[in-house]
Amino acid sequence: MQTPHIPVLLDEVLDSFDGIRDGYFVDCTLGYAGHSLEVLARYSGFNHIGIDRDDEALAFSATRLEDYKDKSTLYKGTFANVFPTLEESPIVAVLADFGVSSLQLDKKERGFAFDSDTLDMRMASKAPLSARDVVNGYSRDKLEYILDQYGEVRLYKKLTSAIIDARAKRPISSAKELSEIAKSVIPAGGKIHPATLMFQGIRIEVNNELGEIEGLLDALEKKHIKGQVVSLISFHSLEDRLVKNRFKKWTQKCICDANAMRCTCSKNHSLGKALSSKPKTASPTELKKNARSRSAKLRSFRFSRDD
Ligand SMILES: C[S@@+](CC[C@H](N)C(=O)[O-])C[C@H]1O[C@@H](n2cnc3c(N)ncnc32)[C@H](O)[C@@H]1O
Repeated sequence: MQTPHIPVLLDEVLDSFDGIRDGYFVDCTLGYAGHSLEVLARYSGFNHIGIDRDDEALAFSATRLEDYKDKSTLYKGTFANVFPTLEESPIVAVLADFGVSSLQLDKKERGFAFDSDTLDMRMASKAPLSARDVVNGYSRDKLEYILDQYGEVRLYKKLTSAIIDARAKRPISSAKELSEIAKSVIPAGGKIHPATLMFQGIRIEVNNELGEIEGLLDALEKKHIKGQVVSLISFHSLEDRLVKNRFKKWTQKCICDANAMRCTCSKNHSLGKALSSKPKTASPTELKKNARSRSAKLRSFRFSRDD
């Protein structure tokens, strides 16, 4: 079966679980099961749990995982909601490959592409908030906030004004129209399409992407076991910062206030260690094969205690 998505940093993900033998492997972003299938092939002692909020991805992966159906369970929902409810034990390996899949991006009717005739961007097709609601319904302040904070668009004020002017004439109903607005404000000629950062900001808002990552990190902080390895792949600095800072917090031995005269916490608060000090990034060979791997960063953490 042809896969519509090439898994990024595959060897690095596989290596991150080295030395783990039996238990549950949770793929929080199952997608098209690219990572899951390879992990199951390499780690024969693993049972599998796959989570995704996208029906299409789950249906596709259920077929791809046919050979493993006796040891695999799939859950529909967001990982921040589903992960804390998992009762399977022991969970020894966790993977999340954040963001959207190539199929979601490429399928015009999902509204993620710059030339889509729809304006949607929901990873779960029945989720209550779509890009259309955000673009046509949000106040100037809220639009400015998401373009600035989630999109890191330098000309966010000007772009917000252009969106508000356009929607005052008639509702903006396609990604194509929205891209044209971006092109009218943001000079072409940069390394990326003028609408890239705006789309990123809107997509993050529609899918609560940063809130989801925080939710998963909170859940892992509460529920982990000794020896469990968590491997998280991010695609932009906002995602990576959340992961990096949380791993730093989990590593710290001392949790005393930075202004405290001396340590009173007994310095035994470290939950474990990052597997590498720097994130893993794509090799030149992978970069040649898969342009999407360009911005991927993998960080892995091994918990060394049960509480
Ligand atoms: C980058 S793709 C994963 C691809 C997968 N690793 C593979 O090799 O096929 C991300 C997938 O995660 C899903 N996803 C993103 N955020 C999610 C969330 N918060 N909860 C559940 N699924 C999510 C998307 O629907 C998409 O299918």
